[in-house]
Amino acid sequence: MMEIRKITCIGAGYVGGPTMSVIAQKNPNITVTVVDLNQSRINAWNDNDLSNLPVYEPGLDDVVAEARGRNLFFSTDVNKAIDEADMIFISVNTPTKTYGKGKGQAADLKYIELCARQIASVAKSDKIVVEKSTLPVRTAEALKSILDNTGNGVNFHILSNPEFLAEGTAITDLHNPDRVLIGGEDAEAIEALVSVYEAWVPKDRILTTNLWSSELAKLVANAFLAQRVSSINAISELCEVTGANVNEVSRAIGQDSRIGSKFLKASVGFGGSCFQKDILNLVYIARSYNLKEVADYWEQVIILNDHQKTRFAEKIIQTMYNTVNGKKIAFLGWAFKKDTNDTRESAAIYVADHLLDEEANIVVYDPKVSAEQIYKDLDYLGIRSPEENRRLLKVVNDPFEALNDAHAIAILTEWEEFKEYDWKLIKDRMKRPSFVFDGRCLLDSSLMESLNFAYYTIGSNVK
Ligand code: NAD
Ligand code: UDX
Repeated sequence: MMEIRKITCIGAGYVGGPTMSVIAQKNPNITVTVVDLNQSRINAWNDNDLSNLPVYEPGLDDVVAEARGRNLFFSTDVNKAIDEADMIFISVNTPTKTYGKGKGQAADLKYIELCARQIASVAKSDKIVVEKSTLPVRTAEALKSILDNTGNGVNFHILSNPEFLAEGTAITDLHNPDRVLIGGEDAEAIEALVSVYEAWVPKDRILTTNLWSSELAKLVANAFLAQRVSSINAISELCEVTGANVNEVSRAIGQDSRIGSKFLKASVGFGGSCFQKDILNLVYIARSYNLKEVADYWEQVIILNDHQKTRFAEKIIQTMYNTVNGKKIAFLGWAFKKDTNDTRESAAIYVADHLLDEEANIVVYDPKVSAEQIYKDLDYLGIRSPEENRRLLKVVNDPFEALNDAHAIAILTEWEEFKEYDWKLIKDRMKRPSFVFDGRCLLDSSLMESLNFAYYTIGSNVK
């Protein structure tokens, strides 16, 4: 059996960093090196002050503290790490293409291809190459072709090992995964990767499949999860006009063990770097095989999600007498969910954009997201100049600076601390009527009503 002594991971992002930290923690005999081209990211991973790690995840600091410097290393020397490794994980980003064929839908595989070419040119011994990034089905074929055609005559075995962690719970998900999925053709290579996970994952949770099932299963898992959110969000709109309450409907259907209670929380819309990208990719793949009905079916999950974000912003404008011009609107939260500093595709970005079009004055407070990141997200939309974004939107470190004198509060992320605020005090300090638009069904509606807020939440207002 192939013995794995050295692992390299290319890409030190939200997946590569936490995943490799846990692999190193649980396999003290394997040296794990995580490499990235981004020097400042690597510096942050090496920072002595663990509160400066580039990824905020509860529990990650303890795992890094245990393994870093022992058998876990972060570096920018990609070639050296490739040369020394027995097994190389590719964990680089695979965003939606912004140009050319498949623009706006297909996954951009340029970073994957660069990695493959670099591995091929550097490798002087046989390697197992593991797809950790989420990839279109049949990418392993292209990878194999590049590796074999541009390599130095050494053998490459390709495995697919998609990652199912969710941000905000990455460490518990990695420590206790529902399953680990490994797709491949070569039994020895598969066994080598199984043995890495067996250090802490029970064998019956390690599934092995063919390459294509593994690649496709990752896209399908995200599509199914996102579909549940869009399904309940569709029902939230129906609840608002009929007098039903979406939380009650969720509870009632979730208790059916065939449906299950998870992922039935209505919200301002799903965000994150994966759901939209992976469904668009699935839609693109289906269309490219001329499966029109299949493509249209899954595309509806995205259409509904866009509708939910727009609907929330429009509800704010309409309720505030059809004008938010010059009004102070406090945003509580900017991250796409709680317990992460990640803002990719966060609903907050799109709701803010809509309100800024109407010249609202937004003041944002998020416990983990920096002002720099928030402005980067807005500037990236390319709709307003950076000066205009900074004129209309401010970012503060103290929530009360956002809430004092506000015409309205919009809750965009479900951070626990928002529930603990002194809402009576907040009410006293706000303008009247004091509007609260709760995009996360986070607050206690009876408390809010008893304090005389004009309180609107997703999926339970008859107006
Ligand atoms: P990320 O953007 O946080 O990290 C990717 C890193 O790869 C970046 O730091 C970038 O500098 C680096 N990189 C790119 N090209 C490189 C190269 N040629 N050499 C060295 N470094 C390079 O992305 P992420 O969120 O970690 O996602 C990575 C992959 O994992 C994606 O395919 C994503 O779909 C998938 N995934 C993400 C999640 C999640 O929750 N974020 C979960 C499961 C799967
Ligand atoms: C997702 C998948 O869950 C994970 O398995 C995969 O590896 C990567 O993509 P992530 O995007 O990190 O993980 O977070 P997730 O918990 O899935 O939430 C995604 C979005 O859906 C968030 O904006 C969240 O707020 C929203 N959501 C989730 C809801 O609105 N309602 C729900 O019931 C659940």
